[in-house]
Amino acid sequence: MIHPRNDFEDAGQGQVFRFFDDLPAAPQDALTREASGVDLSEVSRLHETLVRNPGAGNEALADELQPAEFIPLPRNGGDAARWEEAFETGEAALRAGRVAAFTVAGGQGTRLGFDGPKGTFPVTPIRKAPLFQVFAEKIRAASNRYGKPMPWYIMTSVINHEETVDFFERHGYFGLGPDRVHFFSQGLMPAVDEEGKILLAEKGRIALSPDGHGGSLRALVRSGAIDRMEADGIDTISYFQVDNPLVRCLDPAFIGFHLLGESEMSSKALPKAYPEEKVGVFCRNGEGRDVVIEYSDMPERLATERDDDGQLRFRAGSIAIHVFDRDFVKRLGAGDDPDAVLPFHKAHKKVAFVDDAGKPVEPDSPNAWKFEMFVFDALPFAKNPVIIETAREDDFSPVKNAEGADSPKTCREDQLRQFARWAKAAGLPVEADKTGLPSVAFEITPGFADTEERFVERVSGMGNEKPVIVDEAVIDDPNP
Ligand code: UD1
Repeated sequence: MIHPRNDFEDAGQGQVFRFFDDLPAAPQDALTREASGVDLSEVSRLHETLVRNPGAGNEALADELQPAEFIPLPRNGGDAARWEEAFETGEAALRAGRVAAFTVAGGQGTRLGFDGPKGTFPVTPIRKAPLFQVFAEKIRAASNRYGKPMPWYIMTSVINHEETVDFFERHGYFGLGPDRVHFFSQGLMPAVDEEGKILLAEKGRIALSPDGHGGSLRALVRSGAIDRMEADGIDTISYFQVDNPLVRCLDPAFIGFHLLGESEMSSKALPKAYPEEKVGVFCRNGEGRDVVIEYSDMPERLATERDDDGQLRFRAGSIAIHVFDRDFVKRLGAGDDPDAVLPFHKAHKKVAFVDDAGKPVEPDSPNAWKFEMFVFDALPFAKNPVIIETAREDDFSPVKNAEGADSPKTCREDQLRQFARWAKAAGLPVEADKTGLPSVAFEITPGFADTEERFVERVSGMGNEKPVIVDEAVIDDPNP
């Protein structure tokens, strides 16, 4: 291997090897390996174009934005027959084994302040089942229903890869079997200072962090996951984030709309709860392409604009649930189509580093730029993108913050409300307040039922054995 040190010197990044000669052999090798993975021209281009000369920015482009169109739910005016057709199409694809579940779980989860991979966070109200278990149980339920063992791909990052895999091993892969759960690590990007100099986290370690969930597309290709899907006859990828236990991991109607629309990438939208809600927004840009504008980039005047009927004009919130066509991921992830490349975004962050004298510094204000790709930036490159509406209570209650909005407490309550709704639909007496929160906490496992329809069906088949909810209870499958 050619030593990368000279390349770093030539690129003005020699500081990365400042302490190299004083390091023992093993850390020297490790630093050399890390450095070999850094694309120096990419780093310099990103610093130049995003930090030094960021250009006109979004304000200019914002004038051209229109709300994106989406397929409404039947209860909001959507065509019920079309939803039914989509549902059946999706079910047929699931039955044919064409679909894989895919979770992005490589993030650092800093806002939650939980020590460990976010997927291991105990999220359900009574069992305290971790997020990964909830998804595993939903994937198992779909596999049982459709008679096909659905595979599950999980993207980790160096920060949490080993811990994640260990967790699955310790829990027997939550009944899925190791041959069905495929882990791979996403790519990394170095953090740079104001001048674009790559920072060292330690004398022998570059300050690297995950390249964003948009990095999942190239990681799917580089890890061989896409080839494996192809070999296994999978052409459709159901994508969701690790933070949202309400998500329907393998939603037949959504998959069906994607297939009927011959779409390369489809997305779920729901009406934003309030203008400042921290979700991206589906818009149509000046070129007529659908895009997601991240909440932090959405000009306030657009975020707060209202229609004549008082609804937010830009209300289609992105909840980071997508379906991808496998070959589309392959095209974008391989990176050899110069017209279809995900852009990077910059973030100004506090990054601990060692200074020129080798002293560790813990900054108390942002000192570094990180660069990340966002998966929703793939949308404008997709043929026939489809956006469908979903109901918040059926699909979205993420755990992001330790307290307040999108916290373990709000997520727990949203799960309880869902269980209470299902119980009522099945005719079980449940007391609830006016927000739908039941007075007795209880939990329905995905093994028993993963949708309201399934729950009603199962309960109605139970005759006199119907569950009685008077105390904290877990309604679980007696024969898991
Ligand atoms: C994200 C979306 C936002 C959407 C919201 C819905 C971004 C920039 N914004 O916000 O549009 O409305 O979710 O909940 O994504 N991840 C990785 N690798 C990374 C970074 C993140 O796998 O390098 C994963 C995380 O593990 C997590 C997910 O991506 O599952 C979301 O990341 P996060 O940074 O928490 O996004 P949000 O700002 O919450």
